[in-house]
Amino acid sequence: MNKVLITGGCGFIGFHMINKLIKKNNIILNLDFLGYASSKKDLNYKKNYSFINADIKNFAKLKKIIFEFSPNYILNFAAESHVDNSIVNANPFINSNIIGTFNLLQIAKNLPNTFKMFLHISTDEVFGSLSLNQKKRFSEKTPYDPSSPYSASKAASDHLVKAWGRTYNVPYIITNCSNNFGPRQFHEKLIPVIILSCINKRFIPVYGNGKNIRDWIFVEDHCNALESIMLKGKVFSQYLIGARNNYSNIKLVKKICKLLDKIKPNKSGLNSYSDLIKFVSDRPGHDVKYSIDPTKIENELKWKPKYNFESALKLTIKWYLNNVNYWN
Ligand SMILES: NC(=O)c1ccc[n+]([C@@H]2O[C@H](COP(=O)([O-])OP(=O)(O)OC[C@H]3O[C@@H](n4cnc5c(N)ncnc54)[C@H](O)[C@@H]3O)[C@@H](O)[C@H]2O)c1
Repeated sequence: MNKVLITGGCGFIGFHMINKLIKKNNIILNLDFLGYASSKKDLNYKKNYSFINADIKNFAKLKKIIFEFSPNYILNFAAESHVDNSIVNANPFINSNIIGTFNLLQIAKNLPNTFKMFLHISTDEVFGSLSLNQKKRFSEKTPYDPSSPYSASKAASDHLVKAWGRTYNVPYIITNCSNNFGPRQFHEKLIPVIILSCINKRFIPVYGNGKNIRDWIFVEDHCNALESIMLKGKVFSQYLIGARNNYSNIKLVKKICKLLDKIKPNKSGLNSYSDLIKFVSDRPGHDVKYSIDPTKIENELKWKPKYNFESALKLTIKWYLNNVNYWN
């Protein structure tokens, strides 16, 4: 039985990872400071699970908790994660994402040799932007070139992890995943914004001309990939995770509107939910395109996404229809 410390387990991806690992006989300690995008709802496990309200910025408290638990694995999900917020105020991003990771690494380097891995969950945004017509995709060899305060803070934390691996021998793996979606994602992110705007018949904001391309992955597929990496991944290395679902924002919005037209035909004057689309001024420094080449994880770990994009979108839409007030 492995002891797994999950930081940020009350957020979107960490929550799904806990649900996966708890079924596989792991002992989970979920450490989260319960920020605005987190919830303890639906984490009611009586066995092999505990929650602690703590901040990864607080070194002394963190050290005590981690040494007492003595994890075999640390999975670091805790981060400020919304690009728009980072543009308004970068401070919490620098503190949680960089200083928080630094604190965890300082503790990890002194853990006994029962400690197997610091799994650092990062983003493809650290690589900056591809240009629209470029065929090239991000790979493990792509140099870092972050654009936003969010992606710069994640890039900095990735560099710290690598340095602590090389200098202090902290066994680590860094993962850089594309845009996630799925049930229970906080309503500030694009796919929940689209779905909830349709449900509430509010306009659907689309940045710029909507042509920016994102690479989408269902959260369950991301968590399956993370589990494979925990069990079979090579330490002191990096894996990019993506499901080869490249869509321009406008194409994605129209796809969701079309699905909702079928799942929840609207009865108040709109021909289609796509009538609600409204283009709004672009985000400063907005990356044009992200696209992941997942060949390494596919070949080395035999991981492949299990979910078809459209069926995962339907599943997500249905979850929001049944849980409109989840985050209220
Ligand atoms: N959502 C995506 O599309 C995506 C894609 C690739 C990588 N990631 C990375 O995955 C991780 C999780 O993302 P998410 O979408 O679940 O984010 P989220 O915002 O939903 O969850 C983050 C969680 O971390 C907690 N947290 C933040 N700062 C903390 C601190 N100082 N101390 C303790 N807890 C803290 C929050 O309370 C929250 O519960 C992040 O590191 C993010 O960079 C996300």
